[in-house]
Amino acid sequence: MTLSCIGLSKICFLLSVTFCAFLLLLIPKFQTTWRHRGYPQPRPPPPFNASCKSEFHHPQAEPSSTGHLDSEGTDIAHSVKDETVEKWGDYSLHAGGSSLKLEEQDGSPTSPLQIMLKDHHGPAGDSTKENLELKDIFIAVKTTRKYHKTRLDLLFQTWISQAKRQTFIFTDWEDRELRLRAGDHMINTNCSAVHTRQALCCKMSVEYDKFLESGRKWFCHVDDDNYVNPQNLLHLLSAFSHSQDVYVGRPSLDHPIEAADHVRSDGSTTVKFWFATGGAGFCISRGLALKMSPWASLGNFISTAERVRLPDDCTIGYIIEGLLEVKLLHSPLFHSHLENLQRLRGESVLQQVTLSYGGPENKHNVVSVAGVFGLQQDPTRFRSVHCLLYPDTTWCPTKNIL
Ligand SMILES: *[C@@H]1O[C@H](CO)[C@@H](O)[C@H](O)[C@H]1NC(C)=O
Ligand SMILES: *[C@@H]1O[C@H](CO)[C@@H](O)[C@H](O)[C@H]1NC(C)=O
Repeated sequence: MTLSCIGLSKICFLLSVTFCAFLLLLIPKFQTTWRHRGYPQPRPPPPFNASCKSEFHHPQAEPSSTGHLDSEGTDIAHSVKDETVEKWGDYSLHAGGSSLKLEEQDGSPTSPLQIMLKDHHGPAGDSTKENLELKDIFIAVKTTRKYHKTRLDLLFQTWISQAKRQTFIFTDWEDRELRLRAGDHMINTNCSAVHTRQALCCKMSVEYDKFLESGRKWFCHVDDDNYVNPQNLLHLLSAFSHSQDVYVGRPSLDHPIEAADHVRSDGSTTVKFWFATGGAGFCISRGLALKMSPWASLGNFISTAERVRLPDDCTIGYIIEGLLEVKLLHSPLFHSHLENLQRLRGESVLQQVTLSYGGPENKHNVVSVAGVFGLQQDPTRFRSVHCLLYPDTTWCPTKNIL
């Protein structure tokens, strides 16, 4: 009895010593974690690219997360620096890794959208499926003065030639040549040409208003480094009704972002939401766009973005997921320059809704299509893709190898 008691306390003593030693070892770690979490960081605010626009890493293709936005990103970083840490402090990325993951590009049917689409592809007719035509879609291409010659020319030669009536160019300069080419499908937003959050939001605001004015069924936004496949876009959107609440695109992060809610509260509460990255393109149904109007129409978009201090595409996500509580449909068919585009190869390239290409710092980040033009002739691969899709195009090689 006594012996076993002594034995027990010895064991207890040893256990507590081990436990204390263990705790002592952990203290430095606790301190750092505590410091990171507990206090506002006296560091400069997170630059634009480190927050909303950054992609979760694909190790091979993206040495930096910034892609070709790098040079432009600097402007934003500068503009952001002027803002106080406190202001940016309440715009923090949700760090506690969500269990949700981006789908693989080749896409196993795990996302709500894919499941939905799978259902729609079934043989039975569907009541929500409407007879959508290309003319029902409003495609807004965001560009800026310095890319009229380089990027836009390529788009006019390729996909825009297949969707002239659907496509509207939003820029910041009255370019006479572009006006001749696009007529009233070129919209001079009169927004500033600098690549700041404010200027980008200004353009998005004009895009939104012009879409509502147009009376069309779907609003799709793309950048001037996107290739749009109009037929695939039409096919995707045909699965829904434009009067439903639909917001579809690709998130660039693998977790939702969290921002202080300055619209519904004084900023003391936060709201967590996903957003579709503008660089991959996204679409919004008319039904949903109309509901966004209190926060988005007639310049309200700019004031909403100002209040929450988010870039244009994040603000869209904020209004839709955060305020209207409509979920983003995550689609793997949209692609931005921030992802590893080389993983898209062969036939599957032709099945996507949007494509993109890496900028000057990341020239090799392009989709893999072979057989039409070499990399020298067609560094972005857009011409090759276009000839595979539309082999009758006059400038495509006559003997087409698929
Ligand atoms: C964001 O961009 C700036 C300037 O282009 C760069 O210095 C910085 O390292 C980038 N940040 C991240 C997290 O990629
Ligand atoms: C930009 O300014 C021009 C000239 O004042 C005007 O005609 C045009 O409507 C403006 N654009 C927008 C989108 O307001």
